[in-house]
Amino acid sequence: MGVEIRVEAPKPKRISAHSHIRGLGLDEKGRAIRVADGLVGQIEAREAAGIIVRMIQEGRIAGRGILLVGPPGTGKTAIAIAIARELGEDTPFVALSGSEIYSSEKKKTEILTEALRRALGVRIKERRVVYEGVVRELKIRRARHPFMPYMVVPREARITLATKDDEVTLTVGEEITRQILEMGIRRGDVIWIDAETGRVFRVGKAKSVEKARYYDIETHRIVEIPSGSVKKEKEIVRTYTLHDLDLYVSAQRALISIFSIGVEKEIPPEVRRDVDEMVKKWIDEKKAVIVPGVLFIDDAHMMDIEAFSFLSRAMESEFSPIIILATNRGMARIRGTDIESPHGMPLDLLDRLLIIPTKPYSPDEIREIVKIRAVEEEIELEDDALEELVRIGSETSLRYAVQLMEPARIIALNNNRSRVTIDDVREARKLFIDLGQSVKYLKEYEEKFLKL
Ligand SMILES: Nc1ncnc2c1ncn2[C@@H]1O[C@H](COP(=O)(O)OP(=O)(O)OP(=O)(O)O)[C@@H](O)[C@H]1O
Ligand SMILES: [Mg+2]
Repeated sequence: MGVEIRVEAPKPKRISAHSHIRGLGLDEKGRAIRVADGLVGQIEAREAAGIIVRMIQEGRIAGRGILLVGPPGTGKTAIAIAIARELGEDTPFVALSGSEIYSSEKKKTEILTEALRRALGVRIKERRVVYEGVVRELKIRRARHPFMPYMVVPREARITLATKDDEVTLTVGEEITRQILEMGIRRGDVIWIDAETGRVFRVGKAKSVEKARYYDIETHRIVEIPSGSVKKEKEIVRTYTLHDLDLYVSAQRALISIFSIGVEKEIPPEVRRDVDEMVKKWIDEKKAVIVPGVLFIDDAHMMDIEAFSFLSRAMESEFSPIIILATNRGMARIRGTDIESPHGMPLDLLDRLLIIPTKPYSPDEIREIVKIRAVEEEIELEDDALEELVRIGSETSLRYAVQLMEPARIIALNNNRSRVTIDDVREARKLFIDLGQSVKYLKEYEEKFLKL
């Protein structure tokens, strides 16, 4: 009795093609380490990306854009993702594919505007009066629900908060009690309660609480017990995106004109204008700073002339995130026009971009990348299976070699093997052809068909 056994079904791990990437793998001088953070080779492009990260962090890149260019499978998307990892959680990073701007529900410019505003953070500093301390005692009083007497609901709580120098016992109402229960706050936790809004925030678990009554299985952040008085003014820093603020303001307005709820798919322009005004005022009053994030648009050649000119204009505007584009096209027609242009993009946009090239990989680099992916996907490769994948990767593309690994694993399993052999790889290659082969196949088929 009293023993709780929690059985958790193993969650199927969703492994994306880039899950092995942890960062750019640079040393403290910004030089790329050959194999680090899941990235292999592509030294110059990674170092260039590192400089971009520095520029973003120092806020010196607004109004500019980056273009990653290189043949398919040379790590353009991988490097963009590594940039996001380097920037950390507080910097917004929004990823979009060029084709995603076409939707039947929203205008292209609306999709782009929203993406741009999601990529702009507003860090707001507020001074709030809070009660902060370690929870010494916590008693929850429950009562019968007034309308449903068979239900017992938490009514209020008596909570004793202590600092190194002070101790206060508060009686808090239903709303705060609910938060305390939901957050699983217990004795020994360091928390603060906003005196005005009643928002509860858990800082972590206090250091050196000897008689902790429970066994801590989850790892909580261990923090110092605060000093000074329990009731105090505290500076709170939070980061919202401009899009969060747009949503917040339009929800408030929707309450006033209740009929518009759910009807509006797009945020009205006047809401955005007012949010901008509000943010500018906060900045003037030194209550907020802008945190420019990144809007990454993959396969950028999929966008059309309208989208490109919209982006050029966006780069000039007052609030603008860093725009990173990627493409594998050389000379191409700009969508929506008859004009051929480098990378299928208009020259006035190209003029504003810093271009980072990615280069094809050497067999050694392909070997390293395949090995990293094998670990990530928990696939055991025999040595000659690995070499076969390296060969395939050099002849066709890295992407194709990486994609063959999972089918090869299944083929091995069907043959009761846990390790993938060279035959499994060859079998997979027969079943799933690469792009060159598929084009050739259809061409031959068409020729035959025409001769009939
Ligand atoms: N330098 C690298 N180190 C480790 N993994 C890499 C590296 N470059 C590419 N990869 C991995 O190889 C695969 C293909 O790379 P990626 O998708 O980044 O290519 P791409 O240049 O964006 O290609 P495309 O032009 O087709 O979009 C991905 O799984 C990616 O994570
Ligand atoms: Mg890509």
